[in-house]
Amino acid sequence: MEQQLANKDFAAVINELPEGTFQRFPLCSVHGVPLMKPIADRWEDVENVQARPDDILIVSYPKAGTTWMQEIVDAIMNDGEVEKTKRAPTHIRSPFLEMFAPPPLPSGIDVLNMTPSPRQIKTHLQFKLVPKSFREQKCKTVYIARNAKDTAVSYYFFDQMNKTQPDPGTWDQYVEKFIKGEVAWGSWFDHVIGWWNVKDKHDILYVFYEDIKEDPKRELRKLMEFLGKNLSEEALDKVCHHIAFKAMKENPMANYSTIPDVILDQSHSPFMRKGEVGDWKNHFTVLQNEMFDKEYEERMKGMDLRFRTDI
Ligand code: A3P
Repeated sequence: MEQQLANKDFAAVINELPEGTFQRFPLCSVHGVPLMKPIADRWEDVENVQARPDDILIVSYPKAGTTWMQEIVDAIMNDGEVEKTKRAPTHIRSPFLEMFAPPPLPSGIDVLNMTPSPRQIKTHLQFKLVPKSFREQKCKTVYIARNAKDTAVSYYFFDQMNKTQPDPGTWDQYVEKFIKGEVAWGSWFDHVIGWWNVKDKHDILYVFYEDIKEDPKRELRKLMEFLGKNLSEEALDKVCHHIAFKAMKENPMANYSTIPDVILDQSHSPFMRKGEVGDWKNHFTVLQNEMFDKEYEERMKGMDLRFRTDI
């Protein structure tokens, strides 16, 4: 089925849709979280998704390294046989739970319904918004988190090139919106804190982008154990090579190059942009940084959740 979906020429279908089908959608509040209108419009469908016990949920705030984690999980689930990850693009191999799509394109839920078990499912939903069925089925969940400053920079570039997300405005305006959580999927603080607070109550592995960057093999081992897999040293090396930034940037099954410009205009900024820790220093002014740090301190007060903005 994945193969069937992979073989379909979605780019051709997308390019033939009437002008204006894809637009910078406004945000609507869903239980207090701003989501793009087409997601809010079909919220009931998302809430009613039926999870399976062997589903693996891959969760993140946008731009935390979701695609990276999707590639890692798929490679591990395929026992390090990385050739198998080339069977389809990321969004088919690992359906995006709440992703909308105008007919005849399949939505995230449509793809999910066509995916054989064990399914690897991506979502950017805060814990409180995840369909209850995932809790009932006790699904394994991998949460990937990235420091707020690099996330903000990455999201700013992404919002420029993703023609379905609200216009980010200037960088100065964006920093303010980001801090207030007035961006798609809401507040970074609410997201990372919400998942951190429940990580020990459910089957959740909380992983940091900066840690993978620092020592990919160490983090792969943790993931392998969590997913109940046992890869040989040789297989782990193969996975490390496969999920390196340069390899993923050049991999058409991982770099979103199959999505047409009308949605993702990569001529503006590539999806695989820099893949670094600390790029924020090239973008934050001294004033923005002071303002950000002040708010950060306030919001993270008393938390035992620590991020690194440098490695
Ligand atoms: P940058 O914009 O900072 O480069 P998401 O998948 O959640 O949308 O996150 C995208 C971010 O993860 C981008 O960050 C992208 O470059 C980075 N990324 C993707 N694959 C990566 C990899 N293999 N190594 C490091 N960073 C990666």
